[in-house]
Amino acid sequence: MVHRPPTLLTTSRLTLRAGRREDAQSLFTEYTGRSDAARYLQRGAHSSQARTEAVIETWGEANWLRGDRFVWSILRRSDEKAIGLFLMFIDGNSAEIHYGLGPAFWGQGLATEAGVAVMDWVMHLSGLTEISTCCATDHIASLRVLEKIGLRRVRLLPDELLLTSIGIRTDAWLYRWKRS
Ligand SMILES: CC(C)(COP(=O)(O)OP(=O)(O)OC[C@H]1O[C@@H](n2cnc3c(N)ncnc32)[C@H](O)[C@@H]1OP(=O)(O)O)[C@@H](O)C(=O)NCCC(=O)NCCS
Repeated sequence: MVHRPPTLLTTSRLTLRAGRREDAQSLFTEYTGRSDAARYLQRGAHSSQARTEAVIETWGEANWLRGDRFVWSILRRSDEKAIGLFLMFIDGNSAEIHYGLGPAFWGQGLATEAGVAVMDWVMHLSGLTEISTCCATDHIASLRVLEKIGLRRVRLLPDELLLTSIGIRTDAWLYRWKRS
């Protein structure tokens, strides 16, 4: 079975829309180009807007029907500004998720709101049976997001993540949601 997420998900404050090249400028300024936002990521900050455009071109709307990797731009509904990304990598009946927002938008429950929308599709409309991700053990904000959107801590993965922007390896928690 091929699982293909919808190109559009809406919440009260956000639109998750299949990424488009036109989103790259705002995304690069607010999120992908910033090293503070890459602190807990395996990728470093993007060195140019072109790098952000490449990610969006590869996994966004232009290739939505072709692959099994998907990226939504997270847009603020009030003005359609692109403020973050939500990624889903599907492998068979399982998928891995990753997400992030620009620092100006942290602490307002927005990542949770985006994650709830994605998990709502996963749980009620998709045939996916498992969602997982791993997260640095000291990244408390993201661990909270994962728990609030329905994933549960499974086990410790020692030295799992290389945090590229700060050049250190760190332990991670594996988080998972499984269809019962
Ligand atoms: C991690 C991230 C997605 C959180 O987004 P957000 O929109 O600020 O998250 P929310 O507001 O939905 O929820 C954050 C939760 O963490 C808590 N939190 C935030 N900062 C915290 C901190 N430094 N220590 C402890 N808890 C913290 C908040 O209180 C909230 O929990 P609560 O609802 O129980 O109060 C955001 O910081 C981000 O985009 N970071 C950059 C990319 C990234 O690291 N992605 C995740 C990779 S695993």
